[in-house]
Amino acid sequence: MGMRKDLQETTKKKTFSEMQKERREQAQRSILISCPKKIPEKKLLKHLCQHGDITNHFFFESFGLHAVIEFSKKESIASLQDASFIPRGETEFPIPFKSRFFHLNLKNPSNQTSDVQCSNQSSPLNANIIKALCNAESVENQINTLMKILQLTEENIRLRYLTCSLIEDIAAAYFPSCTIKPFGSSVNTFGKLGCDLDMFLDLDDIGKNSTTKTEGSFLMEYQVKNVPSERWATQKILGVIGECLDNFGPGCVSVQKILNARCPLVRFSHQASGFQCDLTANNRIAMKSSELLYIYGSLDSRVRALAFSVRCWARQQSLTSSIPGSWLTNFSLTIMVIFFLQKRSPPVIPSLDSLKNLADVKDKCIIDNNDCTFVSNLDRIKPSENTETVDTLLCQFFEYFGNFPFNKNSINIRKGKEQNKPDSSPIYIQNPFEISLNISRNVNESQLERFVHLARESAWILQENKGQSSKTSTEPWGLAALLLPSVPNKSKAKKAGRGQTSEAVKKLLESIKAESTKDPRATRKKTTISTQS
Ligand code: GTP
Ligand code: MG
Repeated sequence: MGMRKDLQETTKKKTFSEMQKERREQAQRSILISCPKKIPEKKLLKHLCQHGDITNHFFFESFGLHAVIEFSKKESIASLQDASFIPRGETEFPIPFKSRFFHLNLKNPSNQTSDVQCSNQSSPLNANIIKALCNAESVENQINTLMKILQLTEENIRLRYLTCSLIEDIAAAYFPSCTIKPFGSSVNTFGKLGCDLDMFLDLDDIGKNSTTKTEGSFLMEYQVKNVPSERWATQKILGVIGECLDNFGPGCVSVQKILNARCPLVRFSHQASGFQCDLTANNRIAMKSSELLYIYGSLDSRVRALAFSVRCWARQQSLTSSIPGSWLTNFSLTIMVIFFLQKRSPPVIPSLDSLKNLADVKDKCIIDNNDCTFVSNLDRIKPSENTETVDTLLCQFFEYFGNFPFNKNSINIRKGKEQNKPDSSPIYIQNPFEISLNISRNVNESQLERFVHLARESAWILQENKGQSSKTSTEPWGLAALLLPSVPNKSKAKKAGRGQTSEAVKKLLESIKAESTKDPRATRKKTTISTQS
């Protein structure tokens, strides 16, 4: 009996909050070190071991060499902090704050030999991705290759949680029981190397604490002063923390306080980790959306495969952008993928309403009168009976949305069915939790038209490619053809502004052709991927 329980525990899939708790705890035992270029790894580790056991470590490049060291116990960090000195000079003014970001100074750096291997933190160049895809054997193989190249690595995920934890140290100097957690694509299983780091400042943990009374004779006086609404309170708190990061945040540069946005935020670049960070507060619904995507992404491997392919395709076709505007967002595209998979027969994934029906008492969650309840235990969700392959699904995705009646119907993942469109926006995707809102309200008619047009063209390319093997092709095929800067189309290439791109495509095609004619086995060879920076 005991053995069976163990077995169950090891096969149990982690819930979102279990995963987050484990990662946070791991980050709290970790430190970041900026190292000189030539660093003897063994010596460094031997030195650090004096403060306690090290359970994990890796090196990476971001404005110089850095190391992440994970101790087995938090106490080791305090010991190292006590043993480190704080520089004090004519231009250095220390503040009473013990950070977990260290600099390593070596006495004779030039004598040292470097033996460290760096873990890659950025996404490879597009041309290299396309080359790697051309060498794959099938579209399914291409999709898997794409995911392997672009998905967040174990080290990158650790670094994301560590960065949040380092920022939490600073915020906690103001508000001791606040927490900072990553959300968005850093945690929802759909993140690509190089994606931004969305941070959620949680001040509400105080309210949930069981020792906090809701009534009694003593009232504690602690308020945001002179504010008429919660929005103002959030703006004040973020303003103060932004100021703090700007003045004292180790490794934080280009701090911008964007407090008048619909969702107020502090944007900054964390130089030591290389992440572009967006710190927001009070947006529990966005955290719940991340959890929902995590559940869908963990349920069936085809969800991630398809979402990855579609997100990359959209980025390459400039359907999405890093600048906000009237185009689709990655979030909207992911919801479209989920909707499409719910609509297959039999469905690949269940509707949000069915996930709600599987919820138990402790899953109940109401945020600002919005019902955000759904099951958190993945093992309670039945596996799908659908057996379609990812390449079929990818092609069908383009076919489906290339012909979707956007003028009449809305996309609704809560029901898993299209509904009548409640207003005249070009595309209506119901917000899964704030059900009266459209998450793609920003998208205009011409962006939707481009999406539909490119979807049709892509469905056609994938169908045309069917059965084509990589051996015979001298041109990008399958998924690689979809990721070319613009889907090859002679009439379109002539249009103004496309000249440069088509030049780049030409060069790429030539290099692929040259490689495949040089040596017939060359297309089979694994291409090494070089990094962007
Ligand atoms: P990337 O483009 O890789 O950063 O994807 P992302 O999912 O992290 O998107 P982004 O950084 O723009 O937003 C972070 C999170 O905020 C998303 O995962 C959603 O949970 C939420 N979010 C973003 N855009 C919207 C929106 O238009 N409506 C709603 N309700 N939530 C959004
Ligand atoms: Mg993001």
